Amino acid sequence: MTVERVSTGIPGMDEVLNGGIPERNAVLLTGGPGTGKTIFSQQFIWEGLEEGEPGVFVTLEEHPVQVRKNVEGFGWNFREYEDEGLLAVVDAFTGGIGRASEYEKYVVKDPTDASELIGVIRQAVNDVEAKRVAIDSVTPLYIDKPSVARRIMFKLKRMLAGLGCTSILVNQIAAHERGFGGPGVEHAVDGIIRLDLDEVKGRLWRSLIVWKMRGTAHSMRRHPFDITDEGIRVDPEKVFVKEHGEVREVED
Ligand SMILES: Nc1ncnc2c1ncn2[C@@H]1O[C@H](COP(=O)(O)OP(=O)(O)OP(=O)(O)O)[C@@H](O)[C@H]1O
Ligand SMILES: [Mg+2]
Repeated sequence: MTVERVSTGIPGMDEVLNGGIPERNAVLLTGGPGTGKTIFSQQFIWEGLEEGEPGVFVTLEEHPVQVRKNVEGFGWNFREYEDEGLLAVVDAFTGGIGRASEYEKYVVKDPTDASELIGVIRQAVNDVEAKRVAIDSVTPLYIDKPSVARRIMFKLKRMLAGLGCTSILVNQIAAHERGFGGPGVEHAVDGIIRLDLDEVKGRLWRSLIVWKMRGTAHSMRRHPFDITDEGIRVDPEKVFVKEHGEVREVED
């Protein structure tokens, strides 16, 4: 059986993934602060919209108004697709406090309550008939309860895959943490993409590595990427090596 794949919409990334993310996979996108997780997840949703696949973007980290404003900086007009009923932005940031409750259609009052969050996402997915979902981020769901992290992630994954969605679950780690989000989470998800930002000799380098992706072979190398006014661009031809606190380019 051939694997149906979903294009990430990030130039160079589909090559790293041998053609894209296998359909219905729940992919953990993990990395430290400022590594590009939010932009990556938004670009994934934007690509879907441009290709005629409705999406749901769930924000726990930034005000939904700020999300719409930030993506405009990359030329991605979320509002237009929301008005057409092809995109739902789920507000799991404001808690329904303030003016957001008047104009946001999808509000999660307590984002640490996984059942409530899952219920609102399910409604949003059904309403817009979403094929893609991004959650930025899932970390608040389990940060203070690691023992239930796996159960929460399974619940989330089952719901998303059951509805036929391919999803990006953003996970936050500390700047130089080695893991990806804890054992429960890492095993529950279908894929792990890790974004890194490393300082070498006073300069920051961006690179990413696909740690796992169920259902497909993928590049086993670390690849550099850039963030520009057009979003993220990965260089699948270039390979980086990280060792002894150094990052350097090598021949593949
Ligand atoms: N137009 C742009 N051109 C180049 N780089 C940009 C642009 N916009 C943002 N960036 C870079 O992207 C970074 C932010 O990316 P993003 O918000 O996706 O990070 P993140 O991984 O979600 O971080 P956090 O965990 O703090 O939420 C900025 O720190 C900046 O370095
Ligand atoms: Mg972010």
